[in-house]
This record gives sequence, structure tokens and C-alpha cells, in this order.
Amino acid sequence: MNILVIGNGGREHAILLALAKSKKVDKLYCMKGNAGIGEIAELVNVDYCNIQAVGDWLDDHPEVDYTVVAPDDPLALGLVDELERRGHRCFGPNKAAARIESSKAFAKELMRKYGIPTAEYATFDDYDEALAYVHRVGAPIVLKADGLALGKGVLICKTMQEAEDGLKEIMLDKAFGAAGNKIVIEEMMVGKQFTPGEEVSVLCFTDGKTIVPMVTSCDHKRAQDGDVGLNTGGMGTFTPCPFYHEEEERETMEKIILPTMHAMNAEGCPFKGVLYFGLMRTNKGMRVVEYNSRFGDPETQVVLPMLKTDLLEIFEAITDERLADIKIEWEEGACVCVVLASGGYPVKYAKGKEITIGTMPKDVQIIHAGTAIKDGKLVTNGGRVLGVVAKADTVEEARRKAYQAVESVSWEGMFYRHDIGIKYRG
Ligand code: AMP
Ligand code: GLY
Repeated sequence: MNILVIGNGGREHAILLALAKSKKVDKLYCMKGNAGIGEIAELVNVDYCNIQAVGDWLDDHPEVDYTVVAPDDPLALGLVDELERRGHRCFGPNKAAARIESSKAFAKELMRKYGIPTAEYATFDDYDEALAYVHRVGAPIVLKADGLALGKGVLICKTMQEAEDGLKEIMLDKAFGAAGNKIVIEEMMVGKQFTPGEEVSVLCFTDGKTIVPMVTSCDHKRAQDGDVGLNTGGMGTFTPCPFYHEEEERETMEKIILPTMHAMNAEGCPFKGVLYFGLMRTNKGMRVVEYNSRFGDPETQVVLPMLKTDLLEIFEAITDERLADIKIEWEEGACVCVVLASGGYPVKYAKGKEITIGTMPKDVQIIHAGTAIKDGKLVTNGGRVLGVVAKADTVEEARRKAYQAVESVSWEGMFYRHDIGIKYRG
């Protein structure tokens, strides 16, 4: 089969590397890809947020048998609906189902209606009403721009002053653009031992009838060591999550994962694809922080290397709604991804800096995110540039290998976190 993957980040590179291992795959394409992806797939230069243009390209390329839509924006725009309408087989939720990520208000209403544990909340599109609510409830409080904001539209406000400033930033100054036309205001969830609670990402394969969790992972959203600095798309990940044991697993499956699948069916928008549960272990048990309608980035970079089953077989089983017939198997052991970013990310950063990469040892893989080839040279082309992914028996060992490999990568202004893989230990 010839497969097209939509997207251009580290997640897509990881998906393509997993697909490249499939016996069923003849040729890989990627729209738009990056320098690393260009080594294993033919790059297609079409704007994937223009869903008509993607449909036209596929109509003109009947040799492509299957399309995987990986990023959130084309899913939210209805790319899967458009491709299916034109008769193309593809992977990913349709527009109605993708609302579980594209509208925080939709996700919160769903959880409230079906009793899925999450933070208490209220939604506003009027600034004065939102301000009155903040004054009534008090700090600490969490403010979230309703629409997609690259994981950056969330403000954790410890004081009333921070809450007032944040509200103005989102709703009046429109710091996150139109995503801030509507705001979700949430109770701050706190943990048993840590404040706030410990977080875990549980990505699941689902065809709307069966839902199968992947190995667990932990993200590091803040830009700097020790979880300080601005929120980013994610500065590193590791698998498995150290605090997610059988008890958490059972509780999550029973109270969160299965009820969410059933809720989407009951709402008339069955979810087919990868449903990502961003969870927090709080003093009230496991609760949902957010849903994503897709593979996480950089979670995918550590999760898919552990997958033993053919990824394309899983994708096709989901499309054909026969996921229950497949046995999905995982390797034992651990994996760590350290993200290497451009100086200044997530705010302002330079592009076009030449990258040098040394020889990588066995069990270490360089995943490309914001990279390009310019005048025959590998250069930076985004905020998150590379992921250094190492596998080993334990997280400690994988972490050591990853950081050793980081030593042989450099460009002007490169920065990374030094503490990926340490949290929640012991
Ligand atoms: P989100 O984009 O919704 O995943 O939020 C980004 C980050 O903000 C999460 O990973 C949490 O660390 C934090 N966060 C979001 N909502 C809450 C909440 N209600 N209570 C505590 N922390 C939160
Ligand atoms: N790493 C978090 C996300 O993909 O949204």
C-alpha cells in the first residue's frame, strides 16, 4: 500500500518511522513533512489546512491507498469528512468527533453531562460576566482560551491579580487570537503529594466500539527545568509513567476511558482514531485535564517505538471498525525523548541555523520536527527542532543514553531541558 501522512512535526516523523516497519507498506508520502521525513517519504508541498486542496491532490494521485491525518487543525477543519466524501480511505476522527479537542467548551459539557471526572468550570463569551465570576470564585483559578492555541492558551492563576490580568490578556487583548472569544474558567485541581496533581498521558486507539490504551507517557509542558517558564507544545516525554499502576489503570478505564467512548456515541459523534486522555491524579482521584483528538506530540515519539504490532494494521482495523479482532502488543522497557528547541521558543526564535548531528548509538533515534534542507544543508525551521529518542530497560538508563546523544547535536541558540524523565520518581 502507498500511504500519505498529513503533518510536519516530530509526531509525524515517529508515525512514518512506525509505518515504514509495516510489511504492507510500499511507499510513504508526507504533506508537508520536514528534512528527516524527507529521508523516508516523498514530500508533498500542499497546505494541509486547505482541505479542498488536499482532496484535489488525492483525486489526482489514485496511487495513494490510505491517508493518516495527524495534526489537530485539519481534523478540526473536517479534512477526514472531506476525504471520505470523495471516497478516500483515511485515519482520524471526523469534524464532529474532533470537537472533543477543538472546543474545550464541548469537552467540558460532555464530561459534565456524562459524569466524567474533571475540574468544575464555567464558560463565558462576555468579559464582564467572566470577571464577575472570577471575583466570586476567587484564586487559585485556571483560565483557558476555548479554541486551539497550540497548547499555550492556558493560564494557571495563583492570585486574584494574576486572574484579572489573564482574563484581560485572553478576552480583551486577544493574546491567543480568536481562540479567546470564549473562555473556560476552571477550578484548580490539586494532587495528593504534589501541587498541582501528577499528570499522565494515556493515548488510546478506538474505533468507537473498542478502545485500547497504549503505553502511558509523561509530558513536560513548561519551557524550563523544574517545570517553570512558559507553556510549550512539550519539551520532552518518557514512558512508562511511574505512578500509573493497576489501580489507576482500572479506575481510569471504568470512570473515564469507557464512559468517554460511550458519551461520544450517545452524542451521535462516534470517535474513530486516536483519543488522547490528558489526566491528573488529584486528591479526588483520576480526573481529565484535557482530551486531544490525535496522537500527542512529543508523546508519540516515545510511545510508538514500543509498539510491536503493525501500525498500519491497527489503523485499517479502526477504519473498518474491527479493532476488537486485533491483538495489540508492546515491548517491555522504557523510552525517553528530549526535545531540542530554538533559543527563544515558545515566543520568538530564529530559523535557518545550521544543525550538526554526530553518529548516533544503537537504540537512539533522532526525530525531526522543525527542520528543513537549505542549500544542501540541514537547518532549523521551527521552535521545536529535534527529538532525541532513546530506548532502554529503565527510564533512568534511557534518560542517560538520550542526554549522552544530545552532546553530539548542536546549532546556534539550541536549548533543552535537563530534567526529562526525573519527575514522579519514588
Ligand atoms: P491543557 O492545555 O488544558 O492541557 O492545560 C495545560 C496544562 O495546564 C496542563 O497540562 C496542566 O498542567 C495545567 N492545568 C490545566 N487545567 C488545570 C486545572 N484545572 N487544574 C490544575 N492544572 C491545570
Ligand atoms: N503533548 C501534548 C499534546 O500533544 O497536546
